[in-house]
Amino acid sequence: KKHTGKNWISLAGRFSFRVQSIVIAFNTLHASNVSGCLFQPCDKLTHSLCPPSYWVRWPAPCRQGKTNINSDSSVFLLKKYKLHVRFVSEQQFRLDYEPLLRTLSCDTEQQFTEVLNEILQEVDRRRRFSATSAERSAVIKDIYQPLHPQLYCLQESYLAPKFKKIIEYCQRSDASQQGLLDLLEEEAAPRVYRFPVFERGFCEQLMEELENFEQSSAPKGRPNTMNHYGILLNELGFDEGFFTPLREQYLRPLTSLLYPDWGGRCLDSHKAFVVKYDMNEDLDLSYHYDNAEVTLNVSLGKDFTDGNLYFGDIRQIPLCETECVEVEHRMTEGLLHRGQHMHGALPISSGQRWNLIIWMRASQERNKLCPMCDRKPTLVEGMGFADGFTKHSDASTLVSCVLT
Ligand SMILES: [Fe+2]
Repeated sequence: KKHTGKNWISLAGRFSFRVQSIVIAFNTLHASNVSGCLFQPCDKLTHSLCPPSYWVRWPAPCRQGKTNINSDSSVFLLKKYKLHVRFVSEQQFRLDYEPLLRTLSCDTEQQFTEVLNEILQEVDRRRRFSATSAERSAVIKDIYQPLHPQLYCLQESYLAPKFKKIIEYCQRSDASQQGLLDLLEEEAAPRVYRFPVFERGFCEQLMEELENFEQSSAPKGRPNTMNHYGILLNELGFDEGFFTPLREQYLRPLTSLLYPDWGGRCLDSHKAFVVKYDMNEDLDLSYHYDNAEVTLNVSLGKDFTDGNLYFGDIRQIPLCETECVEVEHRMTEGLLHRGQHMHGALPISSGQRWNLIIWMRASQERNKLCPMCDRKPTLVEGMGFADGFTKHSDASTLVSCVLT
């Protein structure tokens, strides 16, 4: 099926500056023999269908094959320089990155010190994340008064009729991948599928709820290392009644047919968050891959111009062999893609853009190989879904796969 997105590299004049920065970031990521994992633990969640314990991957104990929670070796994104770096020590970091950073206008000792401080703060944040996230959740539960409490429990009326029709098809015993592709109609980029997910009224109420939360005195965490503005929906209490049933009853039947080769049949945990782009805050997002087997990205609104997504290829494919495709956001519609499919977001030029992101994980896949560093994971216990690894993978994940 021919994709419907725009061929991005043909628009060289408009985006040439960005191609250049992507090449630098991508080459550096590979040249540095990345040894770390991004650290994204979630909050505690109890649900009857979840495996009993989820495990978190600490930053890069994998190289030595030991679990060292004090290890500060990890991969970091320097947003200002659009560069992924590996940090083990200041000495290693200077050797590996000082010359490159100088070519990216980080050319004074003060600027270099600022970069170092940024990394050290991030190391500290990751180390404390699990505990601070649990603390935030407890305070939110205590003091936050939801504006639309009914939103926290998934209802069929929130879902777009076309989405329900698609899922109905996926649940049929005679459903096939080709039959589903015919129903989906649109492939926005290779193996990137677009379809309506929510009703417009739901999107508007959800944004009202999130704005109400933002304006409250309740504590807020950052959605991930790349987005500075947004909301972690597990901390707000959306997981148990909303995202777990959405993943299990609606999204997994769909991903089972579309991505059986990427753990789509066995998605057993997730991390859901909302990201916000604003002219005074984050404008864009660098080229990256997600800590997920499959990602759903739904455009909630509001009014904005530009800010399209662009997709390259699976991260193992060099950028020089990649043809990027630009894909626009459409309010209420979702883009479903593989987590390892390289992508980024172009800058908005006006307004405010809100997107709901669901990173779905398959422990059966990631227990074998960490998708962030390509190594056999070495685990320490985390809270809630953590990074989606399970220690006793066979018993727990086989059950969820049988159910699919
Ligand atoms: Fe992403």
